[in-house]
Amino acid sequence: MSRTVLITGATGTVSTALMKALDGADVDLRTLVRDASKGTGKVFAGDLGDPRSLPPAFEGVQDVWLLVPNGPRAPEHNMNALWAARQAGVERVVRLSVIGAAHDAPNRSGRLHALSDQETERSGLRWTILRPHYFMQNLLNEAGDIAATGTFSLNMAAARIGLIDARDIAECAARVLLDDPDRHHGRTYTLTGPRSLTFDEVAGELGRALGRSVTYRQVSDEVKRGSLVGYGVPEWIADMLEEYARAYASGWGDLTTGTVADLLGRPPRDLAGFARDHAAAFS
Ligand SMILES: NC(=O)c1ccc[n+]([C@@H]2O[C@H](COP(=O)([O-])OP(=O)(O)OC[C@H]3O[C@@H](n4cnc5c(N)ncnc54)[C@H](OP(=O)(O)O)[C@@H]3O)[C@@H](O)[C@H]2O)c1
Repeated sequence: MSRTVLITGATGTVSTALMKALDGADVDLRTLVRDASKGTGKVFAGDLGDPRSLPPAFEGVQDVWLLVPNGPRAPEHNMNALWAARQAGVERVVRLSVIGAAHDAPNRSGRLHALSDQETERSGLRWTILRPHYFMQNLLNEAGDIAATGTFSLNMAAARIGLIDARDIAECAARVLLDDPDRHHGRTYTLTGPRSLTFDEVAGELGRALGRSVTYRQVSDEVKRGSLVGYGVPEWIADMLEEYARAYASGWGDLTTGTVADLLGRPPRDLAGFARDHAAAFS
């Protein structure tokens, strides 16, 4: 009999790609969304911040894909989902965490994810944790500037980052969800792209895909923060991004792993492919 899989974060980057990756597989998919009009397929309305809204979505589910958005309430959202899962007799949770999640991570996102990773590990459910690196899709935030000026500005200095295409994260999640529940139980996978790149190299790859020059401009934390807040990014998120930028500028993100290839049996997507596939967005 098909297993029933509940997808959280269903309108976001990774979960949308996950639903595509699971398309046609022998699973019974359902989604948890805050606004039911935004969901596709078998939709359950619910808010991870409101535990009373969750039981109907979790009832009869075997597997939960657990993605909690960044924010100060992230551990509470994870806790509410795990509690609903336990109450409903869910068998397995596959959780999206973040690269370097640890109690001493140099950024609040990594420290908050560490709390939820630990709670998940002790939940009594079967669990697998994915810790992906910086998403290539973050570059889409710079698409407007790149299209308009051929430049993008970050406070990452000469950082080198093993950035990953979110579609590969989704395919790794699909692989885990489609394998036997015991196969990946108790495993934490650090997922990266194939190469650690500077943003000058990123600009070069984007330029080659777009057939015109793209330049990376290094800016200060203050300049980047001013522009993010100007675009309406909440202060908490701007602070979090600044902590990441500092960590990356100091070399913290300069790593790659072979885990995507181990899970998928093929190398991870590279930036050239990402740039080609998203050329329209940058033009
Ligand atoms: N960006 C990176 O480089 C990076 C790297 C590693 C890990 N991560 C992790 O990836 C996660 C974000 O993934 P993403 O970029 O795919 O997400 P995203 O595109 O930002 O989407 C967030 C999703 O969460 C939903 N959501 C927000 N608040 C909710 C609530 N209270 N209850 C239920 N659902 C809620 C949103 O639904 P609505 O439509 O209702 O808003 C949306 O579907 C974070 O945990 C982050 O730490 C990110």
